Amino acid sequence: MSARDLRRAALAALLLLAVVSAAAAVASPACKADPEDAEEPRCKRCAPDGSKCLECWPANGLTAGGQCVPCNVTTEHGNRCIRCDGDDPSFCTECQPRFGMGGATGYYATAEGECSECPDSYCKNCTSLTGECVACNRWWGAVNGTCRPCVQQQCLQCDGDVNKCTQCGYGRFADPASGRCLNCTDPHCGDCSEAVDKCASCDSGYTLDKASKKCVACAQGCNSCDDAGAGRCDENGCDAGWGAAGGGTCVRCSANCTDCASGSKCTACDTGFSLFKDKCRSCGPDCNACTFDSSGKPQCTSCNTGGLDTATKACVPCKQQHCLSCMDDASKCAGCADGHRLGQAGACEACKAANCSMCDDDAAKCTLPMNGFRVTADGGTEACTVQNCAWCSDAATQCESCASGYNLDSKSNSCYACPANCDSCSNKDTCLTCVDGFWRRGGTGQCEKCQPGDEGRTECTP
Ligand SMILES: *[C@@H]1O[C@H](CO)[C@@H](O)[C@H](O)[C@H]1NC(C)=O
Ligand SMILES: *[C@@H]1O[C@H](CO)[C@@H](O)[C@H](O)[C@H]1NC(C)=O
Ligand SMILES: *[C@@H]1O[C@H](CO)[C@@H](O)[C@H](O)[C@H]1NC(C)=O
Ligand SMILES: *[C@@H]1O[C@H](CO)[C@@H](O)[C@H](O)[C@H]1NC(C)=O
Ligand SMILES: *[C@@H]1O[C@H](CO)[C@@H](O)[C@H](O)[C@H]1NC(C)=O
Ligand SMILES: *[C@@H]1O[C@H](CO)[C@@H](O)[C@H](O)[C@H]1NC(C)=O
Repeated sequence: MSARDLRRAALAALLLLAVVSAAAAVASPACKADPEDAEEPRCKRCAPDGSKCLECWPANGLTAGGQCVPCNVTTEHGNRCIRCDGDDPSFCTECQPRFGMGGATGYYATAEGECSECPDSYCKNCTSLTGECVACNRWWGAVNGTCRPCVQQQCLQCDGDVNKCTQCGYGRFADPASGRCLNCTDPHCGDCSEAVDKCASCDSGYTLDKASKKCVACAQGCNSCDDAGAGRCDENGCDAGWGAAGGGTCVRCSANCTDCASGSKCTACDTGFSLFKDKCRSCGPDCNACTFDSSGKPQCTSCNTGGLDTATKACVPCKQQHCLSCMDDASKCAGCADGHRLGQAGACEACKAANCSMCDDDAAKCTLPMNGFRVTADGGTEACTVQNCAWCSDAATQCESCASGYNLDSKSNSCYACPANCDSCSNKDTCLTCVDGFWRRGGTGQCEKCQPGDEGRTECTP
């Protein structure tokens, strides 16, 4: 008998004693079913004769005597327990799966009565005791207990068979016959999950005609007309650069204007522009925001990269060399280019060592080398000798980490290339993170180009 079993036996004996003495004191308590919205709902369903409870609400365990007691699992993730042994509320029998299609892993009850994350991290629902996966997060399908990537692009759900899609991405229908994702018949339809030619919701700028289940266009320059109807525009529904013109229509604003009361009366401008006589006028080179004097001359208040000339109220290039941004009158630098340090007078001073990114107060000693170099004892730099090595702080011949797109083989002290379009990898076939614009297909570890319809993938979301 394990310590756990011993403890359970002792607990059961204690409980039995308690039940016996309670039964002696009061007549058997009648079962009362709680509504789901009760403060702490316990019993969900009583026996027809009301003598005991048959089913408890989640997070409760049913005792042998037919009572519901709250689960009390104190081990890690114990708060994920939704069903426990009523006679030992610390022993969990069922844990919380994940709902929806998001990216989080579900939980399952182990043989020890604890809640543990599903062994497959892409799994949202796995069976108690074994941890076998039955449902995976989007883009993945549960096959033989583990999650595999869905074969088809645009497929969100393929549990059971990675070739057979049961739910497709935006604007696509999962064809039960072929298991493929088909474009909705209506090109402006976003959701046709019921039938390929039956639309349930439309792209921005369109509204659903409930009778025909087709998408019909809003007014020009309008993004929503669910209330106003086809060919018209809802209140506040006009696109940026368009203004509400009354009567459910939108009118294009004048140039560089983002919002307007009418085509000729602008109320808000693009960055770098400001209102002058109801129109947007440029604030001038490098200027972000400005006002205009009565003659229409811009008075800049904030510059992009340069400094503000206090006399002319215009943006001028920073006066210091190697300066990336400067303050007020453009004579004081605020940030220097790589390989330079900011001196006291607001000037940029070159680091003495070549191939140095940052240096100390008197510029003599390099404090951070450029990629592929190391700092020597005297504060100079020397190149790492291993090809494609980014970091070799101890000795030039000893690579510690490789450039982006390469991985270190520490045995041979060399950098090998990752798979195509991969930023970092664990071996030459398996990518860990892809470069921008690519997503990593789990299971294969290859990087695939983000395509229209992949917007739901985190890597493909700008
Ligand atoms: C839950 O269990 C812990 C230890 O196992 C105990 O100290 C605590 O009193 C219990 N809480 C409830 C509400 O029974
Ligand atoms: C998780 O899987 C079990 C077993 O297949 C099923 O009974 C349960 O409804 C599933 N839960 C969710 C949230 O999908
Ligand atoms: C799943 O398991 C069965 C039985 O072990 C096997 O025949 C089948 O090929 C497996 N399917 C996949 C996709 O691995
Ligand atoms: C489906 O729609 C996409 C645009 O969302 C388009 O690129 C693709 O060619 C269409 N496929 C077919 C088979 O019409
Ligand atoms: C300002 O408007 C003009 C004319 O429409 C356009 O060519 C230009 O690209 C606009 N500039 C900005 C920054 O939007
Ligand atoms: C390192 O410094 C030398 C000397 O200034 C220069 O010729 C070389 O281009 C630099 N290499 C890199 C990668 O910056």
